[in-house]
Amino acid sequence: MLVLGIETSCDETGLALYDSERGLLADELYSQQEIHREYGGVVPELASRDHVRKALPLLQQLLASAGCRQADIDAVAYTAGPGLLGALMAGATLARALAFGWGVPALGVHHMEGHLLAPMLEKDPPEFPFVALLVSGGHTQLVRVDGLGAYRLLGESLDDAAGEAFDKAARMLGLPYPGGPPIARLAEQGDGSRFAFPRPMVNRPGLDFSFSGLKTHTLSTVQAAGGAENLSAQDRADIAEAFQSAVVDTLVIKCRRALRQELLTRLVIAGGVSANACLRQRLQAALAETGDRVYYAEPRYCTDNGAMIAYAGCRRLLAGQRDQAETPLRPRWPLQELAPV
Ligand code: KG4
Ligand code: ZN
Repeated sequence: MLVLGIETSCDETGLALYDSERGLLADELYSQQEIHREYGGVVPELASRDHVRKALPLLQQLLASAGCRQADIDAVAYTAGPGLLGALMAGATLARALAFGWGVPALGVHHMEGHLLAPMLEKDPPEFPFVALLVSGGHTQLVRVDGLGAYRLLGESLDDAAGEAFDKAARMLGLPYPGGPPIARLAEQGDGSRFAFPRPMVNRPGLDFSFSGLKTHTLSTVQAAGGAENLSAQDRADIAEAFQSAVVDTLVIKCRRALRQELLTRLVIAGGVSANACLRQRLQAALAETGDRVYYAEPRYCTDNGAMIAYAGCRRLLAGQRDQAETPLRPRWPLQELAPV
């Protein structure tokens, strides 16, 4: 089955072709980051309009790079939520119109399920069951995964998501949006012994997170060092390192705790923050001590992309799922509301 996947939940227009026999044939991504950068975050109306402009030209490019024709496509999967409503509408309307015109089924897919399954696009995919750490701009969740659609929430952030914390800390340091990649780059030059940042909630039992205190701590550290405009390059790098280490250590501690609690040995990390090299390294080192293993997608499939939607859609379509006439879009859509397939 050849599935076209369309992702438009936020500020990336991602299209991909996934074939159940041959794997991922091609994917195209257009990022709107330049458009939103001057506002320091995503402007929903600008995002919707740009998805409308970019999606069809990307489809032509996608077909050309895969060497496929429209007539080869067996189904269209698209992101139905969670995400910005206008942006979701742009992708869903296109997906449903294409599917209707081509006489093939359409299927709305959960964005976070797409992230969660993306590591299965790799050569050595994880087997069920596993614990998943979903870390994106809007979510920080630990989930027990027993199969497709069989998700049990173990813990989540009580305030900011991990990616959001990176974005806010970056802003305090005068770095561009999205903040994860520039913080990670700066942190490489940082001296980890200069600032001691707290590891929030690690001494409390349970698997929930809180990152808003780290944000406050970052702000007071910036102010104590003379304010954002007066920081030297080294100050910035040292603060970035301290901040990143605090987030990563907190995530590592909770992941190990979740594996122990669930008596599982496989951890999957997914979502934009799972592209973070420090997180990958420290998880790998920590899990190796107990003989456990961490799985992740290559960085381009950690952040938003069409391939994960084509893949998740394909698995559900193969199980017989199809959109009903009145399938709603869901800007808010808890992952655990999905039913096992
Ligand atoms: O999954 P994603 O592309 O979009 C959402 O579904 O939210 O995640 C975007 C988030 C942003 O907050 C961005 O700063 C963060 O992922 N991010 C990173 C890195 N790359 C992206 N955070 C830390 N390190 C990175 N290398
Ligand atoms: Zn995402």
